[in-house]
Amino acid sequence: MSNRPSWKPVRADLTRPSAARIYNYFLGGSANFAVDREFAQRALEIFPGAREYARLNRLFLQRVVRFYLDRGVRQFLDIGSGIPTAGSVHEIAQRLDPESTVVYVDNEAVAIAHSQLVLQHNARAEIVQGDMRDPEQLLGVPELTRVLDLDRPIGVTMLAMLHFIPDREDPVGLLGRYRELLAPGSYLALSHCTADQLPELDAAGELYQCTSTPATLRTAEQISAMLGGFDVLEPGVVFTPQWRPDSEEDVGPDPERAASYAAVCRKP
Ligand SMILES: C[S@@+](CC[C@H](N)C(=O)[O-])C[C@H]1O[C@@H](n2cnc3c(N)ncnc32)[C@H](O)[C@@H]1O
Repeated sequence: MSNRPSWKPVRADLTRPSAARIYNYFLGGSANFAVDREFAQRALEIFPGAREYARLNRLFLQRVVRFYLDRGVRQFLDIGSGIPTAGSVHEIAQRLDPESTVVYVDNEAVAIAHSQLVLQHNARAEIVQGDMRDPEQLLGVPELTRVLDLDRPIGVTMLAMLHFIPDREDPVGLLGRYRELLAPGSYLALSHCTADQLPELDAAGELYQCTSTPATLRTAEQISAMLGGFDVLEPGVVFTPQWRPDSEEDVGPDPERAASYAAVCRKP
């Protein structure tokens, strides 16, 4: 007789903490395991603002989805989407326009299992188990092309995930390949962890080396360099709460506490 919770996918790697489940823990979720929680506690000792980092990142996601809708986008592709939590892309997009279509992509088993559950009765949304490092393959999978018309503009989000692509895997070239594949008028939003102005973050980044998702923190210049060939929209590459905030209160006196840069750009 197993005492495993019924939703736990058999193929989840429980030997090492995973970014998806650690982040879920920071957000107060329950789709995480002892190995993730122990890691998250160590990370919180180094960077007590980790929960706030995750919260501000989710608020950025919600602003981006509304921004895309304002710009006429009705197709959404959320890459590295993680474990669903309140305020996911389909919730916001389909609330404002029920015709909106959404594809989520992740490569982590728990994120996939939870997304399948959440989306099981949603004909206009899909979850694809895939690796963002193979854009040509990813954008060709039938689950994705069933829901998204790649000949029309798409609003892509890659939030809190590009720091999991190390320099040796050429994140600049990778984003260039996505740019080639997207229709003109498509958008790309990213957020990316940084130690700029918060040097203690370097130690937290080191900690992630033992996870299934080692992290590479980058500077504002390195992140800007990833966006070559796109038109970067105002206000440019800024700390996450500074990107088109709903109120000055949301920005607060110390936006660098977000430990993350954010930017939105458009394929000309
Ligand atoms: C910190 S979570 C962020 C979740 C969500 N984007 C958000 O901002 O709330 C990062 C996610 O990226 C996923 N991820 C990391 N590397 C990936 C890859 N190569 N392909 C697809 N997903 C990846 C992880 O599994 C994890 O769910």
